[in-house]
Amino acid sequence: MSETHILPLYPRPGDPEPLHGLYLRHHLLDRGATGHPFVYSNYVVSLDGRIAIEHADTGRYGPPQPITNARDWRLFQELAAQADAIVVSGRYLRELAAGTAQSAFPVSTGPGFEDLLPWRVEHGLSPQPAVVVISGSLNIPFERVFDGGDRQGIVATGADADPERIAAIEAAGGRVLRTNPGREVNGGALIDALGDAGFRRIYVIAGPVVLETVLRADRLDRLYLTHSHRLLGGTKVDTLLEGAPFPDAPLLTMRQLWYDPPGAESPGQLFACYDKPE
Ligand SMILES: NC(=O)c1ccc[n+]([C@@H]2O[C@H](COP(=O)([O-])OP(=O)(O)OC[C@H]3O[C@@H](n4cnc5c(N)ncnc54)[C@H](OP(=O)(O)O)[C@@H]3O)[C@@H](O)[C@H]2O)c1
Repeated sequence: MSETHILPLYPRPGDPEPLHGLYLRHHLLDRGATGHPFVYSNYVVSLDGRIAIEHADTGRYGPPQPITNARDWRLFQELAAQADAIVVSGRYLRELAAGTAQSAFPVSTGPGFEDLLPWRVEHGLSPQPAVVVISGSLNIPFERVFDGGDRQGIVATGADADPERIAAIEAAGGRVLRTNPGREVNGGALIDALGDAGFRRIYVIAGPVVLETVLRADRLDRLYLTHSHRLLGGTKVDTLLEGAPFPDAPLLTMRQLWYDPPGAESPGQLFACYDKPE
């Protein structure tokens, strides 16, 4: 099988299909409606369940190098290309401003992604998705990151957030959504507020605290998971979720599965797509 292709396994095994365009072919533009957004997320995870490890040299957590790869990254960007808004964390914004983040906001315009912004324009989307930053502390360098760019910046926080920090974000051109009482953002109130703001497809690209926020409110419609065929071990790690156990152990059903055999660009991986049951 050519390295440009992957093997469909489920719902039925089939002929190899091109990796390039795999998630664009999911037609997420058909999903979501005004006031009822479609919410999706995507992670690359090791066989032992890690999405991030502490990097010993910096003490910061980040995606483990052995499991990140260009093939998964292409699909991550294809999902971003279909979003009206991406959701990131306050921590990520701090790392972006400090120059220590793993990457810039998607959609990438770099080599290998030249087709994605034209694809958005062709399909009537804004040139880039809006960025929604979730933060309780509001200790975020909003003006340094958004600095007069053409990307819409929104901050979601609780009603008790620091008014001076809210004023500073608004003075820098940001929009602040005070979604619910308290300082922490409730997932249901967040998605409702973003739906009311007109976003139809919301791509959650933050880590385990934000994912837990959305899942606890039962507002995640689809989860894309790249299962990398590597084991990482370690104890200073992040897994998909933080927080208290879910009393009802939410169920996701497998929608599709592909096998990406080992090659020059990856150790071998499965691309899985899970949906919230109807
Ligand atoms: N392997 C993968 O595919 C993958 C994908 C995504 C992320 N990651 C990794 O996961 C790790 C953690 O990511 P992350 O820090 O971006 O995400 P996170 O752990 O989900 O978010 C943490 C930060 O987001 C804010 N936050 C989260 N939920 C909130 C809520 N309900 N209300 C108010 N604020 C809330 C807080 O910001 P404030 O402190 O500003 O209040 C908090 O510090 C990173 O190492 C990242 O690289 C891996």
